Amino acid sequence: MTRRALGVCYYPEHWPEENWPDDARRMAETGLTWVRIGEFAWSRLEPVPERLEFDWLDRAIDVLGEAGLKVVLGTPTATPPRWMLDKHPDMLALDAEGRPRGFGSRRHYCFSHEGYMKECRRIVTLLAERYGRNPYVQAWQTDNEYGCHDTVLSYSKAAEKAFRDWCAQRYQSPEALNRAWGNVFWSMEYADFSQVGLPNLTVTEANPAHAMAFRRFSSDQVVRFNRVQVDVLRRHTDAPIIHNYMGRYLDFDHFDVGADLDIASWDSYPLGFLSDRLGATELHKLRYMRQGDPDNQAFHHDLYRAVGRGRWWVMEQQPGPVNWAPWNPAPLDGMVRLWAWEAFAHGAEAVCYFRWRQVPFAQEQMHAGLLRPDGAPAPALAEAVQVAEELEALPETDITTAPVALIFDYAAAWAWDIQPQGQDFNYFDLVFAMYRGLRKLGLSIDILPADACDLSAYKLVLVPGLATMPGDLLEQLERFDGVALVGPRSNAKTEEIEIPVPLPPNLAGLDAVVTGVESLSPGASVGLAAGGAFVRWFELMEGAADVVEVTADGRPAMLRVGGLHYLPGWPDESALARILQRLCDRAGVATENMPEGVRVRDTSVHRFVFNYGSGPARYGEKDLPAAGVHWYAR
Ligand code: GAL
Repeated sequence: MTRRALGVCYYPEHWPEENWPDDARRMAETGLTWVRIGEFAWSRLEPVPERLEFDWLDRAIDVLGEAGLKVVLGTPTATPPRWMLDKHPDMLALDAEGRPRGFGSRRHYCFSHEGYMKECRRIVTLLAERYGRNPYVQAWQTDNEYGCHDTVLSYSKAAEKAFRDWCAQRYQSPEALNRAWGNVFWSMEYADFSQVGLPNLTVTEANPAHAMAFRRFSSDQVVRFNRVQVDVLRRHTDAPIIHNYMGRYLDFDHFDVGADLDIASWDSYPLGFLSDRLGATELHKLRYMRQGDPDNQAFHHDLYRAVGRGRWWVMEQQPGPVNWAPWNPAPLDGMVRLWAWEAFAHGAEAVCYFRWRQVPFAQEQMHAGLLRPDGAPAPALAEAVQVAEELEALPETDITTAPVALIFDYAAAWAWDIQPQGQDFNYFDLVFAMYRGLRKLGLSIDILPADACDLSAYKLVLVPGLATMPGDLLEQLERFDGVALVGPRSNAKTEEIEIPVPLPPNLAGLDAVVTGVESLSPGASVGLAAGGAFVRWFELMEGAADVVEVTADGRPAMLRVGGLHYLPGWPDESALARILQRLCDRAGVATENMPEGVRVRDTSVHRFVFNYGSGPARYGEKDLPAAGVHWYAR
């Protein structure tokens, strides 16, 4: 059984040193186990180049450790100090318009800048040498939120140079690159890799293959940047190395970064995300404004469990209003507790609140903490105490394989971002709609990467919008004896964004071909005979496979051979509910219709029930208050 724990993010450099012991004591009294520090402290560790001031950090680690806390030490590379820019004036990322992303906040670096990379290697080496064997430092965090504030794609000279090298590695010759990208079109052919530019500032859209190569390259640069730090740390410590990812952020392949790390973590801001990035209707936003979307947190928990190969944390948990969303309401009483328990039910080893005390200065002064700026308890503190007490009587929360698997792939998100064909064909929205549909049927779900996944333990597998299906996945589906749903728009492109011939979906055994596609503008739809409609996207199909759903005018709307189904459209909510129900019935997966706002999650022993509603709800025989959490042996 894995021990679950709470923690908090703390910035000793923000507070007078005489307050540290009291802070540490209160953290321990609250029942917190972990404290993450250091990730933005470079200007205090090295105020001028090569003048190192680590003594204060030594003392901070001692104070926290002596109070019984375990330290997660962050590398400070997300916030290069001002002198770094004097030393490396070309280290900034450039946006797609060629404008520098300047100093004065954070993440002002280009992942491809070799000089900055060296500085990072140096500071991480110094930290690792000094604290790698420190008994209080029991985990490390690399950098902070790679990609935050849209910082993965950079159009700098450094990026251009690195991209040319990357292309030379991948394609070996300009002729091969020209062939792969189809550069004969519009006379875009190159005679030399030195002629290859970045896909910005073109007159009209760049070649999608060029754009896709740049997305793959940019993701690889993040992997490489992270790996440099990991390689240094591994030489000096055996403690687990973690990175804190974000919600709904897809600009690099998290599975690739995660492969070099021991634990995945993510930063969960349920109210901020509902307000600023889920594309929810105003009604939905109002209904859940103090609770967060009922499926968003769970989705990311399941995603990052996969990224961490089973080991994952919430590194930052919203404790009250944040400062960065368009509107920043306070959580309903009980939600700070609910969010933590939901994470544990999905297998989190730790949930750390962001942050200990609200800071009265600078950008995040309006962001709540567990304490107010004056040090008095903020509302979240009591809920953290409650969770800590409940963890003492910890129910067994070990995870178990879910009945349903959902495939998630970053490259598919890039492909449809580059070539949506209909403005609202958004990969994340499609996958998330399916995830939500499954949760509304009371299901627990495992999210799996497209490559290197094993389907054999599942009864039902969904593969929505997977632009390019890896050969291994295709072979597994061929052998799979459960029920699978592929599509829409799966196996629709080669890796180089070409339409494959034979035409999609080209699934072994399924005699069906996509002969044409159309995107549907808002309000337009293709009705289905059994109810509901396709929206956003519809594919015309031909072939001899069994047709198990038809459009209102009799065209194929779902095809099947054995347990393998192909879905040629984007189902609206009611069509999706019916289709998922039908697939679950066929797969022998038991379902139940969840009351509005109620969700469940099964562990190996328990069923956890969460009420995201703002009022009471009933689940089975149980009345749940708003923000209620309930668990029982299943
Ligand atoms: C995260 C970030 C933290 C802090 C927090 C505020 O994205 O990692 O440093 O800025 O948001 O909500």
